[in-house]
Amino acid sequence: MRNLCLPQMGVTSPLKAQTHSRSFTAKFFPYVLYALFPIALFRFYFHPFPFPLSTTDQLPHSNRIILTSSSSSPSSLSFSTEEETANEAPCNYTDGRWVHDKMGPLYNGTICGTIKDGQNCISHGRPDLGYLYWRWQPSQCDLPRFDPNTFFHLLSNKHIAFVGDSMARNQLESLLCMLATVSNPNLVYTNGEDNKFRRWHFASHNVTVSVYWSPFLVRGVEKSKTGPDHNELYVDVVDERWGSDLDHLDMVVLSMGHWFLHPAVYYEGGSVLGCHYCPGLNQTEIGFYDVMRKAIKTALRTIIGRKAASGDGIDVFLTSFSPSHFQGEWDKAGACPKTEPYREGEKMVEGMDADMRSIAVEEIEAAKASSKQFGGLRLETLDVTKLSLMRPDGHPGPYMYQFPFANGLQEHVQNDCVHWCLPGPIDTWNQIMLQVIKRWRS
Ligand SMILES: *[C@@H]1O[C@H](CO)[C@@H](O)[C@H](O)[C@H]1NC(C)=O
Ligand SMILES: *[C@@H]1O[C@H](CO)[C@@H](O)[C@H](O)[C@H]1NC(C)=O
Ligand SMILES: *[C@@H]1O[C@H](CO)[C@@H](O)[C@H](O)[C@H]1NC(C)=O
Ligand SMILES: *[C@@H]1O[C@H](CO)[C@@H](O)[C@H](O)[C@H]1NC(C)=O
Repeated sequence: MRNLCLPQMGVTSPLKAQTHSRSFTAKFFPYVLYALFPIALFRFYFHPFPFPLSTTDQLPHSNRIILTSSSSSPSSLSFSTEEETANEAPCNYTDGRWVHDKMGPLYNGTICGTIKDGQNCISHGRPDLGYLYWRWQPSQCDLPRFDPNTFFHLLSNKHIAFVGDSMARNQLESLLCMLATVSNPNLVYTNGEDNKFRRWHFASHNVTVSVYWSPFLVRGVEKSKTGPDHNELYVDVVDERWGSDLDHLDMVVLSMGHWFLHPAVYYEGGSVLGCHYCPGLNQTEIGFYDVMRKAIKTALRTIIGRKAASGDGIDVFLTSFSPSHFQGEWDKAGACPKTEPYREGEKMVEGMDADMRSIAVEEIEAAKASSKQFGGLRLETLDVTKLSLMRPDGHPGPYMYQFPFANGLQEHVQNDCVHWCLPGPIDTWNQIMLQVIKRWRS
């Protein structure tokens, strides 16, 4: 398939193609923004493991502290009080505001052994801890605290997979940490460079949780030192690294977005569809929105088709776009310096964030309609864009590295204003996910 990629001929500026019309310009606007962002940083931010690993990252901790014994504590009490009645309209978690919460997080990075180094902000010396004491208050209803026992109760004997990019992994680690407060996860499988594929088993409830690295959801070749200097995507072919396991999966959480911003050549039906940010490749710049939409379509169509064929059900979440918060220069101390959420109304979901979110919402709605005829298929957008946008304070920033200012203020310090500290605002994503699962099961 690689030879479908045309040889490099001439230099075609994708920007030249953008003046056709206003809407065309608007469509490529985010591309222009991101072209300014050094592409070299790409792997740095979006690779699952851009840094050397300590062995504690790779191995399950045998000394994880178990706060509650799950087998001896019945979960029915907290469970029944929170249940929505069938008559109530389902809660809409999309809109709301962050309010102070003195309870704080369910876990800390010290007791949870699975947190990726770059997101373990407290152990890296982040001095302010105020960002841990906020909870999301939806406009029309309440969002209960995450109850790990309820999760285990509802998903016992099930296999849950997080599929996607490093945000999928970030969300998975949040879930693992919260579940680990009541039951010990055993790492039962790990494969691939940088542990891109991992699986844990909670023996107490026979719950399996996996993570599959698949930043495009469809088949892709990631740019690399030895391979192409751009990504290659096959938008109509699902990535079988997770697709071939669908038979064994009861729930899938899909997550993608940021990888689509970067240089790529797209293929469909065996021929070149176009490219994005690809000067020198003599391909037509087509942006990334339509391509991302096609990738989501392919992923959802494959899940629905295979599950319908086998007669099995599945629950599918698609996590909507999680905005980044670079304010200043990425290599200066103040790239995402805020220590509090934005105030209500201070920030709107707009521009690329809004467009990326809409694609997820629209494609899930379309898939719901097309899967109605089959029983047991449930799909929902995990609409985290607004609540995430409001949390510029939740990123590691310079604390992606341990004690970045140990030797005084440096002139250059790398910042991660994309991923989320653990614990942190991303825990809310799983809180909402659990509420939707509860609604589905009641
Ligand atoms: C670019 O591709 C087109 C069609 O694929 C071809 O006609 C043209 O000659 C190519 N341009 C260059 C500079 O190679
Ligand atoms: C939830 O609220 C958002 C924002 O107000 C809205 O766009 C969306 O349609 C709502 N969802 C449902 C299912 O009503
Ligand atoms: C993390 O939580 C454990 C158990 O609750 C506690 O013993 C420990 O002191 C906490 N560590 C930090 C750094 O707060
Ligand atoms: C444990 O869960 C898996 C699905 O993840 C299921 O296939 C298996 O039968 C379950 N084992 C028991 C003992 O129930």
